[in-house]
Amino acid sequence: MLLQIKIYAIAILYALGAIFMLLFPPRNFLRSGAKLSALRSSSAGLTYDHYLSHQEILDLCEQISKTDPDLANMVELEPKTAQNRTITALELRSDSQTKKPGILIVGGKFIIIKICLDGMAWGVPNALLELADRLLHDSNYQAPFFNDYDWYLIPLANPDGLTFTQAIRDNKPVNASTWSANLTAREGTRPDAWHKNMEKDDSHPCFGVRVNRNFAYHWQDDHAHRPDRCSQAFPGPRPFSAREAQAVRAYVDRLDRRVQLAVHLQPSYEAKKDLLLYPWRYTLRAQSNQQTLQAIGERAARHSRLPDGRIYEVHQGSAERVVAGSLSDYLSGVVGAELVYLLQPHHQLYPNYTDTDVLESFVNRAMLAILSLVRAWRKSEKTNTLSFFGTEVEF
Ligand SMILES: *[C@@H]1O[C@H](CO)[C@@H](O)[C@H](O)[C@H]1NC(C)=O
Ligand SMILES: *[C@@H]1O[C@H](CO)[C@@H](O)[C@H](O)[C@H]1NC(C)=O
Ligand SMILES: *[C@@H]1O[C@H](CO)[C@@H](O)[C@H](O)[C@H]1NC(C)=O
Ligand SMILES: *[C@@H]1O[C@H](CO)[C@@H](O)[C@H](O)[C@H]1NC(C)=O
Repeated sequence: MLLQIKIYAIAILYALGAIFMLLFPPRNFLRSGAKLSALRSSSAGLTYDHYLSHQEILDLCEQISKTDPDLANMVELEPKTAQNRTITALELRSDSQTKKPGILIVGGKFIIIKICLDGMAWGVPNALLELADRLLHDSNYQAPFFNDYDWYLIPLANPDGLTFTQAIRDNKPVNASTWSANLTAREGTRPDAWHKNMEKDDSHPCFGVRVNRNFAYHWQDDHAHRPDRCSQAFPGPRPFSAREAQAVRAYVDRLDRRVQLAVHLQPSYEAKKDLLLYPWRYTLRAQSNQQTLQAIGERAARHSRLPDGRIYEVHQGSAERVVAGSLSDYLSGVVGAELVYLLQPHHQLYPNYTDTDVLESFVNRAMLAILSLVRAWRKSEKTNTLSFFGTEVEF
């Protein structure tokens, strides 16, 4: 009799448990359900196997957000560029329905990844869209990278500059200073480097502003005299004169101080020089959380060893070169993002456009470094780890 009552009681408890699970499914259970469109187990090669043009990037962002509207959202930034191109952001959120009573809620973790504002970073949009593709569709990337964080990607923030350098890639190279100043030297040639946008000023033959020197945080603090209009470092006539910088500022302001980790992905064009830098860039003075930035950076560098065995050099940006008005200083000094990194994997100037091995190598190095940064940050916060007989186990 007593045994029967016990069995009934246990059965009722189980039934209640099952009903509870159905009514309030845990977050990860819901997430791994049918809502994920096409889940792969692993990805061998690249999904995007050629350098993407601005139009292709727009089309892909639109396609991704239409295919997975619950998880991905495309935002058009304002204003448009000088040549009337749209800058887009791609937002990935695994948890759009925040009212779910999940047990494993890990608090608001927000990540923002940005693109280089440089006109020569052909591989960067590929790296960010490839990352978006893996986060959405590759089961190896779902936990922990997608489920616990929101991702905000701006795959291409200088579409005019990139379109320009891609279009003239086959021309004969000429020193960029000469090319800028001498109109006849421009015929049928290309500048040997182009890091600016395409904003024209009718009163001057030289054009373009280095967008990553145009942000309003200690703008121009590194130069006694304003660099010349023809220089690749020209920071603009005033802070936030460049439309690209205005668009990025407006977008970041809209995110409203939720940014905890910001990564500005920008190539290093020097061979054997792969850098992971943090603010400040405009001064040799150290950040208040310099030790945390260094520790997370070093951990990330150890986990993203380069194919030839080297690791990223990790240090404060100004130790490399003093540069004012850059995006990373703005994100740290004005937006107040806790952790800001400038990630610089090596990328050639004008790489062989048809050589997919070079592209694949860049994309893989960039993605590995970004994910290693997230892992290192996670580890530093001990998010989702349990101490199990003295060993830390991640779940
Ligand atoms: C800019 O592009 C939009 C479409 O993307 C078009 O409607 C608009 O007329 C263009 N503006 C200029 C000044 O060309
Ligand atoms: C290009 O020319 C400028 C000015 O003449 C010079 O300072 C610079 O070193 C040159 N750059 C290269 C890559 O030769
Ligand atoms: C401008 O470039 C052309 C063609 O390269 C050259 O012949 C000319 O001397 C240059 N002019 C100046 C002022 O450097
Ligand atoms: C560019 O890469 C392609 C494919 O790897 C190769 O066939 C071609 O010779 C390369 N071109 C140059 C100029 O190196």
